[in-house]
Amino acid sequence: MKGRRGFGVLLAVSVALVSFGCEGDTGPQGPPGPEGPEGPSGTVSQYAYFGDFGSECSHCHATTINDYVTTGHRFAYDDLEAADQSDLYCLQCHTTGFNCTVESGDTEIDPANCVEPADGYSGYIGDETDEGVARRADLEGVQCESCHGAMGPDFNVHLPEISFSTWDNSLCAGCHDAQITEWETSGHALSAGGDPEALADEFGRSSCNACHTSEGFILTYDPSYATYDFGGHYSQIGCPTCHDPHLGEDGGGNDAQLRTEDAVTLNYYAPEDEDDVPTAEGYGPGQTCMQCHKARRDYANVQGQIANGSAHFGPHHSNQLDMFLGAGSYEIPGFEAEFDANRAHPHQTLVTEACVTCHMAFSEDAGGHVVHNFMPSTENCAGCHPGIPDFDVNGMQTQVEAKMDSVAVLLGYADYHDLADNINDEFTGNQTWPADWMREVGYQFIFVYNSHDFGVHNANYANALLDTAIDYANDMLP
Ligand code: HEC
Ligand code: HEC
Ligand code: HEC
Ligand code: HEC
Ligand code: HEC
Ligand code: HEC
Ligand code: HEC
Ligand code: HEC
Ligand code: HEC
Repeated sequence: MKGRRGFGVLLAVSVALVSFGCEGDTGPQGPPGPEGPEGPSGTVSQYAYFGDFGSECSHCHATTINDYVTTGHRFAYDDLEAADQSDLYCLQCHTTGFNCTVESGDTEIDPANCVEPADGYSGYIGDETDEGVARRADLEGVQCESCHGAMGPDFNVHLPEISFSTWDNSLCAGCHDAQITEWETSGHALSAGGDPEALADEFGRSSCNACHTSEGFILTYDPSYATYDFGGHYSQIGCPTCHDPHLGEDGGGNDAQLRTEDAVTLNYYAPEDEDDVPTAEGYGPGQTCMQCHKARRDYANVQGQIANGSAHFGPHHSNQLDMFLGAGSYEIPGFEAEFDANRAHPHQTLVTEACVTCHMAFSEDAGGHVVHNFMPSTENCAGCHPGIPDFDVNGMQTQVEAKMDSVAVLLGYADYHDLADNINDEFTGNQTWPADWMREVGYQFIFVYNSHDFGVHNANYANALLDTAIDYANDMLP
């Protein structure tokens, strides 16, 4: 039973979208998507909700419907136990067009808690006429109009609600408030201060948007958006970014409607043997995270940074996949044997969903779902490292931080915090270490620092990078 979640207001599903950039109760609201197209003429229904699992839409959106019918949403009503199929509280999230709010235990609907249109599922409860029974059957489960809004009775104006945002006007709000509340505390939600306009200013460029915005990721991974006009709107990475609600397991998708679990190949591999560039595959839902959390630089760029410095020194902040695989850093020549001996780590084979295993635990405490703040917790480690009080398994993080301090001192800084604070405006300004060796050592340091796990993702590679940096710096210093 997963039903006892905090129930916000179902209104969000049907109420009009709100304007761009204003503050809601829980944070700034994202922009609505662009308006839909004109609909077909002559399609008229007496009902505001068509229902019937998209049959009205199938003439034009057959592929979408074939995919959708393999998602859990299609079966949201069927999956209720018989007794719960008459529990008003459960029905409000497991049917289409339940435009009333009811508290757990309510046996009657108070019309004061309902909104228009009234002919969704809730409108026919208790109606045992043939029409009433048929309408309820048509409106079981979470259908197209749960997310896209009621599309009748006059279908000539075909303006389905569509939003790429997770803020208050989210298409998922009302039913998935538990995940949204967790998401609101995440680095994804708080990017650019959580403000969609600031996000558009900072990351609305083609070189950044695929990883930093919902729209950019969708247009990169979903062919139906390749030429879509997002009207300059950008949203924080949220529910519709990682999830494609039309993609179900039996339709070739996966069990959580994930937009992509594609294999990911690193951009850079030090030995420059193209056939050898590591690829991550088979980590299931963890493949979703890897699409964005990988280093950005290619071979020429990294060599250029070492030779000449760079305005954006280092692998970018996002090199967690590279660290996990034990590859992808510039590696100081002469230490090949040491690197090759330290790429592998038991986490690569034992932690079967990689990022998701450690960063998204299933939690009964959180209402019985996969926690969506994307932060690791010691609960995620307990199966293999029982009873640990923190992430510092075998003192590994302490050891890695001590080595980071050593590298910083060799480069002339007080400690690694001083190094991190004083170069590059957090590694985005111009990096001008004067000597080649300093840039080589500095790159390896930044690679470890940017992954921000202090030896958890791959202790062997992190140690190899720091040990070789220390040895090399000691050789080079007068
Ligand atoms: C007679 C054809 C037709 C029917 C029937 C139809 N649509 Fe559409 N729909 C279109 C066209 C054309 C577009 C624009 C191209 C596209 O995005 O695929 C569109 C776009 C959309 C969009 C995207 C809107 C946007 O902002 O880009 C959604 C959502 C949508 N339709 C939902 C539905 C739903 C739900 C139904 C059934 C209740 C439905 N449509 C029935 C033709 C139709
Ligand atoms: C009207 C309520 C409602 C809305 C709106 C809604 N969901 Fe759901 N969702 C459900 C219910 C109920 C289930 C459980 C379905 C089942 O398995 O019986 C579910 C299941 C899921 C699952 C689990 C995988 C699966 O296929 O069962 C995912 C992922 C999901 N929803 C994502 C979303 C996203 C993303 C949105 C917004 C774009 C959204 N949902 C909007 C009610 C809703
Ligand atoms: C606030 C909306 C909401 C209410 C109210 C609600 N559910 Fe759900 N239910 C969901 C969502 C969303 C999911 C899927 C995602 C998740 O697990 O959080 C779900 C999942 C489920 C599932 C799992 C389906 C599967 O096979 O994976 C069952 C069973 C279920 N609910 C039963 C109930 C029952 C029984 C009630 C009434 C006591 C109820 N729900 C009330 C939103 C709701
Ligand atoms: C759980 C919420 C949800 C449900 C249910 C849902 N959609 Fe969508 N739909 C979205 C979201 C979010 C987008 C934008 C992102 C995307 O396409 O993945 C979208 C986009 C679309 C688009 C435009 C882009 C495209 O893929 O062509 C169409 C058309 C569409 N939906 C039709 C439908 C139809 C038809 C159904 C019912 C069979 C349906 N949707 C069910 C949430 C939903
Ligand atoms: C390959 C995907 C990818 C691309 C492309 C990308 N980034 Fe990032 N970026 C990330 C990820 C993932 C993080 C978060 C890593 C972390 O927090 O550890 C991040 C973090 C950042 C941060 C630090 C966090 C913050 O918001 O202050 C900045 C600044 C940044 N990126 C700027 C940019 C800019 C500017 C561009 C375009 C020129 C860009 N990124 C392109 C994936 C990418
Ligand atoms: C950064 C990517 C990402 C974002 C953003 C995201 N999800 Fe998920 N979600 C996932 C992944 C990955 C899984 C699969 C976890 C697993 O299989 O263990 C998942 C699983 C789920 C499930 C099914 C499993 C369960 O029991 O909880 C639901 C429901 C869900 N997400 C809803 C949402 C909603 C609603 C939002 C918006 C608040 C959202 N997700 C935002 C990545 C994401
Ligand atoms: C669409 C690209 C994308 C996907 C997919 C994605 N992320 Fe992120 N993630 C980012 C970006 C960009 C940031 C940095 C946001 C900022 O600070 O501006 C980030 C930030 C984070 C942070 C916070 C880092 C910090 O410094 O506070 C964590 C943790 C995280 N992501 C984990 C995950 C996990 C786990 C997954 C998979 C379930 C995932 N991400 C999927 C792009 C993505
Ligand atoms: C073995 C478990 C584990 C795996 C696998 C794992 N992580 Fe982590 N990750 C952690 C821990 C623990 C931390 C936090 C260390 C700390 O805060 O002391 C962390 C830190 C991070 C951070 C920085 C968070 C912050 O607060 O700055 C990001 C981003 C991140 N991981 C993303 C990922 C991605 C993406 C993957 C998959 C390629 C991944 N992680 C795989 C355990 C793991
Ligand atoms: C599926 C099993 C598994 C999970 C889950 C897992 N680890 Fe590990 N981890 C291992 C194994 C095996 C080793 C090899 C060293 C050992 O046996 O302790 C290891 C090594 C480590 C090391 C290096 C220690 C050393 O002495 O080499 C750290 C740090 C670490 N894990 C942290 C974590 C953290 C933090 C989490 C949870 C966020 C986590 N691990 C989750 C199996 C796991």
